[in-house]
Amino acid sequence: MTLELLAKEASACTACRLHERRRSVVFGEGDAKSPLVLVGEGPGDQEDATGRPFVGRAGRLLDQALIEAGLSREAVYICNTVKCRAADWSSGKPQNRPPAPDETEACRRWLIPQLAAISPQVILCIGAPSAKNLIRPKFAITKERGAAFSCEFARAAIATLHPSYILRCQRPGDDGGFSLLVADIRKAWDLALTLREAVSS
Ligand code: URA
Ligand code: SF4
Repeated sequence: MTLELLAKEASACTACRLHERRRSVVFGEGDAKSPLVLVGEGPGDQEDATGRPFVGRAGRLLDQALIEAGLSREAVYICNTVKCRAADWSSGKPQNRPPAPDETEACRRWLIPQLAAISPQVILCIGAPSAKNLIRPKFAITKERGAAFSCEFARAAIATLHPSYILRCQRPGDDGGFSLLVADIRKAWDLALTLREAVSS
């Protein structure tokens, strides 16, 4: 199925409880012919409001990391593990939370065909929930980030720190892991180009 058709069908999805409070189904965007796909966790407030992935504070940090790695958003395709915002509403004010296992599982109905339609050389999993979903359930992000693993949905997958986590860790004199994010993006891109080259030669 084409990405356009998938996005259209996903926009009406009610397969898990996250549909109840969403404003947008944030399907994904970017270069569908890119050798590299970035898969984050899920939309936050800004993404839910605009329908676009990684446009809030974490997204701006990701943009900065892409630029420092010599890339731009336009060079890659960006999407998320779940397409609707996961938040805890019990206090009245929504608090973002990681997607629950059943929500992640439900949204594979979109993510897996989306990845199949793009057929990237490399997937860069942004944050632990994405790595656990696409590489291995027990993936240990702090120990295993930055290394290439085999993956069912691309020729290789690499995981990196989530920019929201980096923002929480940053202190004066401590970049919170931003340089690791830049290095992992660079590595994922270089590997994607090498693998693509090997296919075409
Ligand atoms: N965090 C994510 O994981 N994805 C987004 O789209 C925005 C913030
Ligand atoms: Fe459907 Fe995914 Fe949204 Fe759940 S998160 S309602 S599975 S699109």
